[in-house]
Amino acid sequence: MAGRSAASVSWDFWLLLLVLGRWLTTADFLEVEMAGRTQIVSLNDNVTIFCKIPGSPHLNIKIMGITWFRKSQMSEKEVKLFEFFGDHQAAFRPGAIVFPWRLEKGDASLQLPEVQLGEAGEYRCEVVVTPQKAQGRVWIEVVAYPASRLFLERAMVKGNEDTRIVCKSSGFYPEAINITWEKWTQKVPHHLEISEGVITSPAIKNEDGTFNVTSYLNLQSSLEDSVTIYQCVVWHTSLLTPLKVNFTQTVIGSKKRDASWSILPPCLGLILLLMIGLCFWKR
Ligand SMILES: *[C@@H]1O[C@H](CO)[C@@H](O)[C@H](O)[C@H]1NC(C)=O
Ligand SMILES: *[C@@H]1O[C@H](CO)[C@@H](O)[C@H](O)[C@H]1NC(C)=O
Repeated sequence: MAGRSAASVSWDFWLLLLVLGRWLTTADFLEVEMAGRTQIVSLNDNVTIFCKIPGSPHLNIKIMGITWFRKSQMSEKEVKLFEFFGDHQAAFRPGAIVFPWRLEKGDASLQLPEVQLGEAGEYRCEVVVTPQKAQGRVWIEVVAYPASRLFLERAMVKGNEDTRIVCKSSGFYPEAINITWEKWTQKVPHHLEISEGVITSPAIKNEDGTFNVTSYLNLQSSLEDSVTIYQCVVWHTSLLTPLKVNFTQTVIGSKKRDASWSILPPCLGLILLLMIGLCFWKR
């Protein structure tokens, strides 16, 4: 780098600088970079936990080693997940691997196939480039995003037919979730938040550790012909933007139609009775 202007300075000085420089770059400056303090990954994804020696150096992997550890939230004990040194390589977590061709370029990132909720914790990457050593830590958070669906449910309550929209969100993690409801009507063509008639059940836990939650919106029966769009809005830490699911309700003279259907069965009964009576009378 500084070779050309060296003519006036003694060779000893340059040699010293060269040795010192090499010692500094390899000893004190061996460091690794992680993805930050926290890296968020999705349940069942094949994830890459970053750990890189900055500057993409070209390394001789024969003289280096890499070990990955995990410390869970529950215990203080660190478990070894993967190790590599010389010709030796071992995965203590099935499928865990650091690709050698990436390691040659200073990338010691760990590949973890199908990550599970129980694998959240503090990960430590330890890199040895003989005789120096560097390490980095990152907190891995495993999240699962909700699957949501909407459907209509009718139920008889005290002789009245109740209609409600059901918004079911399932398979999410962590437990904290917010569900809100909005609607658009022909009269008010911008979304309005609905606060009345909303019931959200407590979250229930699934066997795999994820949660389900159901929110219900009771519908008021409308006398007018109208089109209303209802929207269930799901807010969860796994989602960058809230998840929105729509339901369109079209009411066309509902009361009248309901009324005509309700008087039909007695009507039929009467006709049947009359016909039977007629038969006997003819005999
Ligand atoms: C959660 O929801 C899923 C999908 O609807 C369902 O298969 C599962 O049985 C539900 N879990 C519980 C505990 O009800
Ligand atoms: C749910 O709402 C509360 C109160 O507005 C807020 O503090 C919290 O962060 C929300 N949670 C999610 C997962 O959006």
